[in-house]
This record gives sequence, structure tokens and C-alpha cells, in this order.
Amino acid sequence: MSEEQRYRSRTPASARYFEEARRYLPGGDSRSTLFYPPYPAVLDRGEGCRLVDLDGNRLLDFTGNHSVLAHGYLEPAVMLAIRRQLERGSCFPGPTEPQLRLARHLVERVGSLERVRFTNSGTEAVMMALRAARTFTGRRKVAKLEGGYHGTSEDVTGTTHPELVLLPANDAGGAVAILEREARELAALLVEPVQGSAGMIPLDAGVLRALREATRRLGIVLVFDEVVSLRIAYGGAEEHYGVSPDMTCLGKVVGGGLPLGAFGGREDIMSLFDPSLGPPAVPHPGSYNANPVSLAAGLATLELLTRDVIERLNLLGARLRSELKRAFDEAGVPAAITGLGSLFGIHATDGPVRTIRDAARGNAELRHRIFLGLYNEGVLVDPRGVGTLSTAIGEAEIERLLEAVRTVLSRNR
Ligand SMILES: Cc1ncc(COP(=O)(O)O)c(C=O)c1O
Repeated sequence: MSEEQRYRSRTPASARYFEEARRYLPGGDSRSTLFYPPYPAVLDRGEGCRLVDLDGNRLLDFTGNHSVLAHGYLEPAVMLAIRRQLERGSCFPGPTEPQLRLARHLVERVGSLERVRFTNSGTEAVMMALRAARTFTGRRKVAKLEGGYHGTSEDVTGTTHPELVLLPANDAGGAVAILEREARELAALLVEPVQGSAGMIPLDAGVLRALREATRRLGIVLVFDEVVSLRIAYGGAEEHYGVSPDMTCLGKVVGGGLPLGAFGGREDIMSLFDPSLGPPAVPHPGSYNANPVSLAAGLATLELLTRDVIERLNLLGARLRSELKRAFDEAGVPAAITGLGSLFGIHATDGPVRTIRDAARGNAELRHRIFLGLYNEGVLVDPRGVGTLSTAIGEAEIERLLEAVRTVLSRNR
């Protein structure tokens, strides 16, 4: 039986859901990255690192909702913080205490953040950071690295967008040459220190240092998109790499499982948002900005994500990456394993993976069979072959994942 046949036989309720959902929603869903053929499994509930789908299949979750959930589902302290805030009200026409608490936590935690503001998503955080950079520099264009994903705003998606300049990833010389050529028009350089959507590909420290040096010299605002990478060190990827940006965008983990984004950085840039001295240079209204329930969930989550906890998670991540490589090698299936800290990526390719172009050379059909195979074995990873560890995961769950990988590889060489 093929992996797809197995999958179909395990998920008839999800199949029925999609048949109906397609009548109301294009493709049957509202989040394009979650789609995979023949249809995505519909998820019903979760606790810790365990999920149950609509058919009652039990799954070990190695996604944490694609790096959102640092502590898995229904973490008690996070749930308590949410409940306590909900009892006071879900949103207000004025500032709230959770905003001050999370802002203080982030500014004390992330070295480059002198001031911060809250949005509803990582997408909005990036949009606002870019607006600030444009106003601050008086320039229009934005540069990003190939393979970087920064949400769904028009500014950062199209490769043909006339105001978007694409730089090669993990190639300091190539990137700096383009920055120098375009500098007079470039407001910002947007960098994802670990390229999550490209397949959890960490950038080289030397590349980040070169980009920092060039942007400082050329007056370009360096923006780190740490929506995914914040979790790799207490103070984020900037602390891990020892490279400090001018601005930083956050999301996912900072909302503790509820919608939240944040952006911040240098005080002189962030003061563009200050309305206390007259109309702000960059307005930032929004009915749900700094939603107190999300802020409370985010603070509870980050308070549990201490230096020690991150160190333990990262050790588990390092062990998983080396054991995954061994499992593929022993099965005789070429693979490159990428990642950093609690992030990992599996690429069905025999070369090293340092850029999205390397990742694209992988065997997509085999990757998909492995993904469905793991689902059939009760393990959920991202359909793109990447995953994230949460603190709800321990040695036993890592063993289960490795065992599932070995079983699936033995069926799909
Ligand atoms: C690096 C990065 N930036 C920005 C975003 C956008 O965040 P959101 O999905 O909250 O809009 C994502 C989402 O996956 C991301 O991975």
C-alpha cells in the first residue's frame, strides 16, 4: 500500500471535511502553507506535544504550530494567564497593563530593542518596520535575501516587485555588491537569520557580520526578522550571532499561541511612532493592536522560556539533527539535515543545503512520501520537511520520531 493510500484510509473524516469545505473556502482552508495533497488532516485538539485529528488519530507534534508554541498545547501557566485576562475583558479602547509588562520583558531580553510596538501578526510587524525605515531614510526600496520569508505583505512577497531588491543568501560578497549598487535608494535590508520557510537554513555568522557592516556604512536600516529565530537564544538570533540590527520583527512565540506580532529597535527610529509630540510621522492605528489576551499569553510563554530551558531545548535539537542524519545514512537515503537550536529541517538531497536553491534540488516527491509516512506513523512535521521542538518534548518523543523515520525510510527507499 502506498503512503497516500494508508493516509487516506486513516483520515476519512478529514476527507469529508475537505469535500464540504471546498464549497465555502477556496481550497477548503485559510492558510495556504498548510495545504498538502491529497488533503490536510483536520486537527481537533492538543495537549503538550500530543495532537488528535478529526478521525481520532493520535500524533506527536513536532511543529508547535510551525514554531509558534514553545511549550506545546494547553500549557497550564499560559492557559491561566489567558483566562485571567479574559475575565477582565478581551480588548479595550486604551492601553493595558499586559502591554507594559511584555514590552518591558522584550526590551530587557533582546539587546537591540530600545522601544517596541505590538501588532497582530508577524506580517504586520514587518510592514510597520519597513514603513518606519522608509520614513527614516527617505528612501523607497527594500532588500531581502533570497529564500527569506517575511509574511504576506506586497512589499516582501513578489520577486518582481519593483521596490524589492533580492540578494543572494549566504553569499556575503554577492549581497554586499548589490547593496552598494542600490544603496542610494535602499531604505532597509530585511534578514531572517535562520531562513525558516526555506527549510530552516541558518545564515553564516560571517554573512550577517558583513551585512551589518555594509548597512551601517551605507545608511540602510538593518531589520532582523526574528519571528521564527527568537527562540534559538534567550536574546534571539542577534545574541547567538553577536550581530545587532537596527530593528527587529517578532511574532509567533511572543504571542504564546494567540495572534501577536511586535517590532522595535533604535529609539530614534521608533520615535517616528510617538504621537505625544504631535501627529506621528508614521501612524500605527489598529483595533486589535496590543491585544491584552495575546500579550498575557506571550508573557507567560516567554517567562517559561528561560536561558536554562532554551539550553536544554537546543541540546535536544542538536541531538535530533545528528540522529536524523544517522537514520538517513543507515537507510542509504541521501539527506541533508539543517537547523539551529530547536529548529530542524530535513532535505532529501545529497549536497549540502546552504540556500533555498540547494533545498530546491531535493527530491520533493520523496519528501512528501516521508511526510505522509510520518503522519501514518503518528508523527506530525511541517509538510515542507521542517519542524520545531517544544519544551513538552523529551528524550522519549525524540526516540519515537527517530523510530518513525526509520520505519518510513524502510518502506520508501
Ligand atoms: C520569518 C517570518 N516572518 C514573518 C512571518 C509572518 O508572520 P505571521 O504569520 O504572524 O503573519 C512568518 C510566518 O511564518 C515568518 O516565518
